Amino acid sequence: MRISPLFAAALLQASIAWSSPVESDDLVTRGASKRPNHPIKPHHPGKPFPVSPARSKTCTVKSYGNGKDDSTNVLSAIKSCNNGGHVIFSKDKTYTIGTALDLTFLKNIDLDVQGTIKFTNDTDYWQANAFKQVFQNATTFFQLGGEDVNVYGGGTFDGNGQVWYDLYAKNNLVLRPILFGTIGLKGGRIENLKMRYSPQWYNLVANSTNVVFSDISISGYSSSSNVAKNTDGWDTYRSDNIVIQNSHIDNGDDCVSFKPNSTNIVVQNLICNGSHGISVGSLGQYKGEVDYVKNIYTYNVSMSNASDGARIKVWPGVSSALSDDLQGGGGLGAVSNITYDGMVLSNVDYAIEITQCYGQKNLTLCNQFPSNLTISDVTIKNFKGTTSKKHDPLVGYLVCSSPTVCSDINIQNVTVKSPSGTNQYACANIDGIDSQVNCKKLL
Ligand SMILES: *[C@@H]1O[C@H](CO)[C@@H](O)[C@H](O)[C@H]1NC(C)=O
Ligand SMILES: *[C@@H]1O[C@H](CO)[C@@H](O)[C@H](O)[C@H]1NC(C)=O
Ligand SMILES: *[C@@H]1O[C@H](CO)[C@@H](O)[C@H](O)[C@H]1NC(C)=O
Ligand SMILES: *[C@@H]1O[C@H](CO)[C@@H](O)[C@H](O)[C@H]1NC(C)=O
Ligand SMILES: *[C@@H]1O[C@H](CO)[C@@H](O)[C@H](O)[C@H]1NC(C)=O
Ligand SMILES: *[C@@H]1O[C@H](CO)[C@@H](O)[C@H](O)[C@H]1NC(C)=O
Ligand SMILES: *[C@@H]1O[C@H](CO)[C@@H](O)[C@H](O)[C@H]1NC(C)=O
Ligand SMILES: *[C@@H]1O[C@H](CO)[C@@H](O)[C@H](O)[C@H]1NC(C)=O
Ligand SMILES: *[C@@H]1O[C@H](CO)[C@@H](O)[C@H](O)[C@H]1NC(C)=O
Ligand SMILES: *[C@@H]1O[C@H](CO)[C@@H](O)[C@H](O)[C@H]1NC(C)=O
Ligand SMILES: *[C@@H]1O[C@H](CO)[C@@H](O)[C@H](O)[C@H]1NC(C)=O
Repeated sequence: MRISPLFAAALLQASIAWSSPVESDDLVTRGASKRPNHPIKPHHPGKPFPVSPARSKTCTVKSYGNGKDDSTNVLSAIKSCNNGGHVIFSKDKTYTIGTALDLTFLKNIDLDVQGTIKFTNDTDYWQANAFKQVFQNATTFFQLGGEDVNVYGGGTFDGNGQVWYDLYAKNNLVLRPILFGTIGLKGGRIENLKMRYSPQWYNLVANSTNVVFSDISISGYSSSSNVAKNTDGWDTYRSDNIVIQNSHIDNGDDCVSFKPNSTNIVVQNLICNGSHGISVGSLGQYKGEVDYVKNIYTYNVSMSNASDGARIKVWPGVSSALSDDLQGGGGLGAVSNITYDGMVLSNVDYAIEITQCYGQKNLTLCNQFPSNLTISDVTIKNFKGTTSKKHDPLVGYLVCSSPTVCSDINIQNVTVKSPSGTNQYACANIDGIDSQVNCKKLL
């Protein structure tokens, strides 16, 4: 889709009209932060975001201190302020969470996190009690859902990841919790927060609609030789009408990843460092399951020190294994109407990677069983910068399993070069691709 400047301006107007009322001055004198309400711009997924009414009462969460579990304090403040209140996590406090919190009952509530929320390092407890989200064996420390929920305040969610990075190095079947689980949320804004040291992905957004993430800072490294792995910034799943914008992500896996049934999503104004790019997928992992990813607009991303810039990864028609804990193939569905508009790359292995042979190194075998998950109507445009030396002279990889399941791929104004000055792409099974980029044919 091409958004005309006039339409974009209309959307911007509309996004201001849809923005929620700010907190009353009365709440602010009681120590509450004002709702940030960052405008959704310049792009907008097109559907309105519901208005969040002002809240009338405040509840301040008590903290025991000294690493004692504050979960009951958090729950009691949330319960007294649910249905129209504003919960304050005080600025100078660290709240320890040692109990899995089911927060899917939230309604018309603001969580004003000014201090730090830190999860305990009790890996036995969390492996037994973290919420199982089933998809890719994902688990979460808490699940935040319900209706009309805003989380902001400038504070920090700290996943205490080091103990998990070290444990995972010993046993890669350990299920590490996701830091921030947005599960079944209908309407909400997550803004002005720091997310640190997630054991695994930073955000899972599942079964959710009309949710905006804005001005989030993500970072967390391992201090031992055991690298922090699979630390995706965001994964969206079974979710519609989502915005992720104005954020800085220093991580070690996908910066943002659109998992099965992610629709009408805008990702814009991100600075990603150290990631695996902005990824569609992986999809088609589960035999017989149907996955759709449609209507995605990614705009203005700075991508540094990454394995990929724009990436679409689909499992082949045949069962395949990427690693002990990641196997799949044989799924159905479609990837369509995907736009990547504007990316500046620095030290990125592939500027663009499209594969329908994810997890399958044997391309002959992959082509024998073409993917049942089609890729169509993809536009990648206005990319500049340089790749890393890793695949030089290649700057990209465009490999489908058959031209019958991959169509209408458009690459325009991508001027990315390798360190040696080349701009070659590995190509296979995409009709018309050699008239768009400098192809080196595979097979
Ligand atoms: C876990 O946290 C506790 C309390 O903060 C600390 O005493 C202990 O050393 C930590 N254990 C590990 C393995 O990091
Ligand atoms: C989402 O909703 C479906 C259908 O109600 C449910 O089966 C699933 O467990 C929910 N959660 C996730 C993460 O998919
Ligand atoms: C969960 O992990 C196990 C390996 O521990 C793997 O066999 C299984 O396929 C995974 N399940 C899902 C749903 O990814
Ligand atoms: C692009 O994103 C960067 C970083 O978030 C931001 O500073 C800049 O204003 C954005 N540019 C446009 C044209 O939106
Ligand atoms: C960016 O990522 C690289 C590794 O990929 C890391 O060494 C560097 O510290 C990161 N920069 C920041 C600001 O976190
Ligand atoms: C995705 O949506 C389609 C159509 O609504 C549905 O048939 C399919 O089961 C969904 N897949 C997942 C993984 O939720
Ligand atoms: C394609 O996706 C964009 C959002 O990126 C949306 O505005 C447009 O309506 C979609 N087009 C179709 C035909 O669905
Ligand atoms: C990329 O990594 C290098 C070396 O690790 C680091 O100096 C640089 O700051 C990183 N780039 C960004 C944008 O963080
Ligand atoms: C790749 O797959 C083809 C077709 O199934 C098979 O003949 C060939 O032996 C495989 N190659 C390797 C290296 O496994
Ligand atoms: C999926 O693709 C495989 C291999 O290309 C094919 O044999 C199979 O019949 C397809 N399955 C469905 C349900 O379409
Ligand atoms: C090509 O992309 C660059 C950004 O990489 C942009 O500044 C320029 O205007 C684009 N050119 C056209 C003709 O769209």
